[in-house]
Amino acid sequence: MPERAQTYITTPIYYVNDRPHIGHCYTTLLADVTARFYRLLKGSTDTDTGRTPDVFFLTGTDEHADKVVTSAAAHSVTPIQWADQNAAEFKKAFAFMNCSNDDFIRTTEDRHTSKVLAYIRELQKKGDIYLGDYVGWFDESQEEYLTETAAKEANFVSPVTGKPLVKKVEKNYFFKLSAYQDKLKAHFDKNPTFVLPEARRNEVLGRLRGGLQDIPISRAVTADPTSQWGIKMPDDPTHRIYVWIDALFNYLSVVDTPERKQFWPPAVHFIAKDILWFHAVIWPALLMALGRALPATVYSHAYWVRDGRKMSKSLGNFVTIEVLKAYAQKYSLDALRWYLVTQGPQGATDADFSHAKFVEVYNADLANGIGNCASRVSNMIEKYFEGKVPEFQSTWIDRRWETTSADAVPRYLEAAQSLDLAAAFEAASSLIKDVDDLISETKPFTLAKDMQANGQEVANILACCAESIRIASIMLSPAMPQKMAELWQAWNCVPAPGTPLQELCAFNGPHAIKPGQRIAKGAALFMRADPAETPPA
Ligand code: MSP
Repeated sequence: MPERAQTYITTPIYYVNDRPHIGHCYTTLLADVTARFYRLLKGSTDTDTGRTPDVFFLTGTDEHADKVVTSAAAHSVTPIQWADQNAAEFKKAFAFMNCSNDDFIRTTEDRHTSKVLAYIRELQKKGDIYLGDYVGWFDESQEEYLTETAAKEANFVSPVTGKPLVKKVEKNYFFKLSAYQDKLKAHFDKNPTFVLPEARRNEVLGRLRGGLQDIPISRAVTADPTSQWGIKMPDDPTHRIYVWIDALFNYLSVVDTPERKQFWPPAVHFIAKDILWFHAVIWPALLMALGRALPATVYSHAYWVRDGRKMSKSLGNFVTIEVLKAYAQKYSLDALRWYLVTQGPQGATDADFSHAKFVEVYNADLANGIGNCASRVSNMIEKYFEGKVPEFQSTWIDRRWETTSADAVPRYLEAAQSLDLAAAFEAASSLIKDVDDLISETKPFTLAKDMQANGQEVANILACCAESIRIASIMLSPAMPQKMAELWQAWNCVPAPGTPLQELCAFNGPHAIKPGQRIAKGAALFMRADPAETPPA
């Protein structure tokens, strides 16, 4: 992502008619890990230093969909009561996932609705909105309008849910999307990372070539109570603003204030492939019409699936929040975060949620990886040096680092800044492997049998290991903040708030482990898991 002083990161705002599940938690987790990475990179710690933060991470709920009215009625509550109840569920789910969002927007809040009205008025003033006749198809399950051609191609059923499309003939306000075709194309050409991954970018470019039609941005208000839910068009109470237009504006409305305006434009909108067109075409066109800067990147990941099949209500195969909680309870929340981030559908390919894979990754990366490596090193420091970092020879450890591990930090930075989180954590994990290799190669436990002769060498080896683990732990912390904090406590190397990542990751630099520093053995960070055990539920 381009280097800017401020980094603004968003997730989709989720429909409140559903309960949160793995999909919602996953996208919000990607945003959380990215936000934590950028806070670390910039040394941005608002609360600790009193400085204005440099990172702003937003999530929230999309509440004006028709489905809210129908679900509320089915539960004998009002739409806003239903929205309150479910928005609270999303807040709880993201708190459980330890997501560090700076704000949570609900589209029923005044701070949002008042801004939406102002944006619509502005678009009207600029001549980008007109009243016209809409004849076409509506996908009620997705709240999405389809053109005649698209509807025909989809055999007149929803391409996402398979439910029949509904024919619509109505007067609507339209947004002049067609006027932005060339500008959008030019923007894509100039900004190769505007939509990621590449496969998704090509998909949008392909559709763009097919031409753009103006889109309805309002729906008629009738006697039907469903049609009364939403924000009314300015000066025309017979129309309400189409829920998608209302929802997209959340990204702008929340930071369009004197205190937050420096965050605009967003560094990345994390979304999944289902809502790509809205974010890659309609949203940028609206922003162009408003004369606002465009987000740097729309990152559209693939889907979590189960046994190769899409998760859906009808199949009842969602990985629910309860399942996620059971995994966190058994293996720790950070292990769950690790599995989701490193094995998830971040690229263009769907990922299967599999218990066998979870256990394999947990054992390989965590129990036998960072966990075991940190235990081995602290145990030896305890045994041979009474739990204190010994006097070591800087030149020895620097040489070892330079020859085996020095590329890990730059690889991590490059991958994380290109939003390839799995590759970033792979670079961090490679340091753990380097430590294991150093131990197997040099066998400090054998050398230690004659400390008189080999004491200095053992000291060098263990100091090098401990310092490499410290650096790995900093890089792993955006994914596993709690476990790494536990390690820092035990090793007496809690990073000073506000210290930027590159400074913290300087090997044998100002924040390095020091001779005499107490390194407590502590409990194992991750207990080994038995692959034969049944999945938690
Ligand atoms: N309200 C709209 C978004 C408006 S944004 C201005 C919406 N909401 S949603 O509740 O349906 O959430 C869709 C998003 O949830 C996806 O884009 C993705 O981020 C996440 N996921 C839902 N199911 C998913 C999977 N099976 N796998 C991964 N993430 C998916 O659309």
